[in-house]
Amino acid sequence: MPPSFRGTHQAGIVDPAPRSLLFLALNLVGGTDRLAVDRVLADWSRAIEPATRGIPDAPELVGLDTTGLTVTVGVGPDLPGKIGLAAPKELAPIPALPGDRLQPAFCGGDLAAQICSNDPLVSLQTAQTLTRLSQGVLTTRWRLTGFTQPGPATPRNAFGFKDGTGNPRTTTDVDNAVWIPDGPWRHGTFLVVRRIPMDVQRFAALPTSRQEAVIGSRRDTGAPLTGHDEFDEINLFAKHPDGTYVLPVDAHSRRAHARFDGGRQMLRRGFTYSSGNDETGLLFLAFMKDPALFTRVQARLAEQDALNDFVQHTGSAVFLMLPGTGDNTVLRLPG
Ligand code: HEM
Repeated sequence: MPPSFRGTHQAGIVDPAPRSLLFLALNLVGGTDRLAVDRVLADWSRAIEPATRGIPDAPELVGLDTTGLTVTVGVGPDLPGKIGLAAPKELAPIPALPGDRLQPAFCGGDLAAQICSNDPLVSLQTAQTLTRLSQGVLTTRWRLTGFTQPGPATPRNAFGFKDGTGNPRTTTDVDNAVWIPDGPWRHGTFLVVRRIPMDVQRFAALPTSRQEAVIGSRRDTGAPLTGHDEFDEINLFAKHPDGTYVLPVDAHSRRAHARFDGGRQMLRRGFTYSSGNDETGLLFLAFMKDPALFTRVQARLAEQDALNDFVQHTGSAVFLMLPGTGDNTVLRLPG
């Protein structure tokens, strides 16, 4: 069953990622009021909903197989102040963190649309539809494209490692990690976006055992260094006979482990990107009910993580993703 546009939650969050991503961050045109934003959301909804059912009527999409398309919409930290919208205090820019190499061209945004589909052309044409329908109200601030490997297996990142193994897996764990539990934004979530170039050549030149020590898991199976199968629980305490930890102290999966945050988890749904100047990286997208979790984890990683020699962060944004349509037919700003 393709994810449904209408419902309690927006699609494109807990459902498995399809092949292609186009992430669109937009700015509000000066002097625009809330009514105009609501109108855009309604127009977007009316164009997207039939397309997600595989029967598009937007001119850009007619004739394409849009089955599996999802468009997930959220608001950035500056929007509430511009249009008098009440938003939770957690909606604030991610603070500057040590090691950041942020470029304004890949940061921020008043509104975001995460477009995911099985066909990059469908994602592209959907972005055209959205920008056409928001003319005069929103302008494009930045857009990034990415891809992943759809299917039941955990996708691999550009370092060749399975990425997503440590995500919450049961419905209860996913619900606890992702959805805002109360208030007008109940059933919404926060999305943190980071653009992270990866030094694939230098990482690939390491012996496999060193790569595995950097990440903390086996390259072939994705199993933690302390286990045998991919989804074996990580054992942070296991030691070699010489007293050193089996999962090295600076291994990425140790430093990022939920145990250091009282078990709080985020749902990572990343995509690989490749840009014209021979740059490859991760579009890190993670959903969570409080973006302070991202800040804590990333601060810990910035302090110590063997992965730091091979990655840097060049883009950053946070969005409060709207609750689903609920009983309405279109997306609306709550409150
Ligand atoms: C290019 C940058 C990154 C790469 C290549 C990468 C790769 C990986 C890999 C291969 C794993 C082990 C498999 C898995 O559990 O998914 C992992 C785990 C994880 N990563 Fe990353 N990661 C990156 C950046 C980040 C960032 C920026 C954060 C958050 C601030 C993060 C948070 C996590 C978490 C929470 C886990 C799971 C730890 C656990 O098992 O509890 N990662 N990452």
